Amino acid sequence: KQRKPIVIANWKLNGGLDLICTSVASFIGKHFAAQIAICPPYLYMRDMMTFLQYSELQIGSQNVSRYESGAYTGETSAQMLKQAGCSLCLIGHSERRAMFAENNEGCKIKVNTALNHGLLPVLCVGENREEREANITEQVLYKQLSEGLGGLDLAGKDLCIAYEPVWAIGTGLAATPAIAQQVHQYIRAEVTRLFDQDTANRVRILYGGSVTKANASELLQQPDIDGLLVGGASLDPGHFVAICEQAS
Ligand code: G3H
Repeated sequence: KQRKPIVIANWKLNGGLDLICTSVASFIGKHFAAQIAICPPYLYMRDMMTFLQYSELQIGSQNVSRYESGAYTGETSAQMLKQAGCSLCLIGHSERRAMFAENNEGCKIKVNTALNHGLLPVLCVGENREEREANITEQVLYKQLSEGLGGLDLAGKDLCIAYEPVWAIGTGLAATPAIAQQVHQYIRAEVTRLFDQDTANRVRILYGGSVTKANASELLQQPDIDGLLVGGASLDPGHFVAICEQAS
């Protein structure tokens, strides 16, 4: 594939020092064709970074503040993340949209902030079950993409979009490779319309939702699936490594 594959672990509100040690240890001395990152809870990022000189693993953040600095209790800025050694950040994960009132407008500000500070933004999009059953998946994605990215200056910038159908997250019911490919193709076409062919060719589109070592390979073989965003299965280091090994 012309785009370097990328596999990201999202630990969500899970894990601790034990998991950090076992996870990092399972990457030491291993080489992967793909870019690999783990997004632990904020508190553990620094602990994890002390081990990174021994592996190719990168650290990502599960969120980023839309603000640079100031009186914003509980926030962490893109600049702080970058200075601490973070490489990328998830933006607008469906759990943040559903439970923490994140919206497309806020996501766009966060994508812009991440780009300005040299963090790779991973904008998460996806329809829920009702929307899929009502046959409005493309309309939902169009709104998330146009309002979450439209108008940004993406020339020469590295950007990832994670397609995570909400009905597939944590359910054990992953999208079939055919359905995922169809949606990824739509997303790339929409990026072409919103920006240009060059940006669409460059953007990496990840699939997320009940990814396991059993379905990773077939998903990754699809022409428009450039990587995976892994939740539950990434909490088992051996399982996550087995997924990463399939991305080439
Ligand atoms: O960010 C990760 C996704 O929400 C997928 O989670 O692999 O547990 O379904 P999952």
